[in-house]
Amino acid sequence: MTLVLTGHKPFAQGGNRLCFVHPEAPERCIKIRRPDFSLEDLRRSKGFPKNLRPLKSFDDNLEEWHVINTIAGRVGARAFEHIYRCFGFVDTDLGKGLVSELIRDHDGAISQTLKKYLWDHGLTEECQTAINTLCRFWKQEVIPSRDLLLHNIVVQQSQPGKINRLVVIDGLGSAGLVPFHWLPMTQRKKKVARKTANLHERVQTLLGQRGQDTFPGYHGLLIHDGRPESPTTDHDAHSSKQGGPGAS
Ligand SMILES: Nc1ncnc2c1ncn2[C@@H]1O[C@H](COP(=O)(O)OP(=O)(O)OP(=O)(O)O)[C@@H](O)[C@H]1O
Ligand SMILES: [Mg+2]
Repeated sequence: MTLVLTGHKPFAQGGNRLCFVHPEAPERCIKIRRPDFSLEDLRRSKGFPKNLRPLKSFDDNLEEWHVINTIAGRVGARAFEHIYRCFGFVDTDLGKGLVSELIRDHDGAISQTLKKYLWDHGLTEECQTAINTLCRFWKQEVIPSRDLLLHNIVVQQSQPGKINRLVVIDGLGSAGLVPFHWLPMTQRKKKVARKTANLHERVQTLLGQRGQDTFPGYHGLLIHDGRPESPTTDHDAHSSKQGGPGAS
């Protein structure tokens, strides 16, 4: 059966994917490839020799599905404290979609990104603790990831102003030519330590931008908060015009 997404407004979009609330399961998210930036477009945008790779090697959904299953097999259920659960694929009228856990706050609103949280609240003590917990987990479990970007981490709040956990919803896996698990453990650990150190740097960079009037870029803003009749954001007015590849 093909699930119809046309007519549903995505709650967010990144450089590569549109994210929808699952029309039949509000606690799930469906991610589909952006129709205006296909896998062929993505491959074309890469230089030689990367552009020789098969199309499916550029598919974020496929990679995420494999990587999350591999991590879960190694780490166990604890993996899902900080990485979102994936449930598999569904056919939609906008293409194949990856079905995953949709991270929501205590009040049902879809959780904001760390980028938006920091922009709104600054680096509260509680947020610093949550970031440290995430980084400790990343290092302890030697999680393979690309750069830990502020818009690829969401802040789940368990009650007003109370952070339950940070969850990474994109950017898992490794961009290197040699598969992560082939590397010696010392090198894997070094890579992970670099990613967590860079995350702290990114936090400081964003805090330094807080003086400016507008939110930097469109990555990290929600189009709507996923509650029935939720208000749309300013971002909504611009979202369909934003094109092109984004940092992943
Ligand atoms: N499971 C989820 N729960 C809550 N919010 C989510 C979830 N998945 C995605 N989002 C929101 O949707 C946005 C875009 O999703 P995602 O990062 O997967 O898209 P992308 O196109 O792969 O991103 P990029 O531009 O980094 O390549 C995120 O920044 C986040 O705000
Ligand atoms: Mg992303």
